[in-house]
Amino acid sequence: MRIDIITIHPQLLESPFQHSILKRAIAKGIVEVNLINLRDYSTFKQKQVDDYAFGGGAGMVMMIEPIANCIEQLKSERTYDEIIYTTPDGETLNQQQCNRFSTLKNIIILCGHYKGIDERIREHFITKEISIGDYVLSGGELAAAVLCDGIIRLIPGVLNDETSALTDSFQDNLLAPPVYTRPADYNGWKVPEILLSGHLSNIDKWRHEKSVERTKQRRPDIYSKFKNGTD
Ligand code: ADE
Repeated sequence: MRIDIITIHPQLLESPFQHSILKRAIAKGIVEVNLINLRDYSTFKQKQVDDYAFGGGAGMVMMIEPIANCIEQLKSERTYDEIIYTTPDGETLNQQQCNRFSTLKNIIILCGHYKGIDERIREHFITKEISIGDYVLSGGELAAAVLCDGIIRLIPGVLNDETSALTDSFQDNLLAPPVYTRPADYNGWKVPEILLSGHLSNIDKWRHEKSVERTKQRRPDIYSKFKNGTD
């Protein structure tokens, strides 16, 4: 998979790809992530990429030309399955979307800034608008990092234990069950007896029950999807 991220802060996005699972996925050649500095596509002397909003009002708007030049250049080199814009007014990211994105070959992620991007970019280039939650960040970079992490870990070969992504919270509309490790007794706080029993089918049953109980208590919205068998 190839992910091209268009940003005015490429350095802000370097670190998430230099550690742990994402670093390994890149080293193994399973994913290629390119950080593209939008300012390189500005035709202005000062590398300007934003301007005042028509109609007035506070806040700058990202201009069409640098973004269009950048996207056109990328599109002339390969076909993209999605051109995603990270914005608080997009669709809220969920596990099902991460699953789908993880099956794609080439995607662009455009990180928003200031008051947003000229609407015509959204109309003519963007195929998907993604929010990572109902709060406003200073820019789309951290949202892009979250999106990439959610996607890349699902690509086959990235996680060592292939099954561990399948048992994540949300994969089957259930939150994950509680987990424990040694010691079995910490100052009288004991691990549930069943987990020490060695009886695998009983343990699976207990974990499933705990998942259902937890989902019902904490996320009734997801619990109803689980009960109805819908996504
Ligand atoms: N940019 C600013 N806030 C954001 C959010 N919540 N999700 C995605 N992109 C954003």
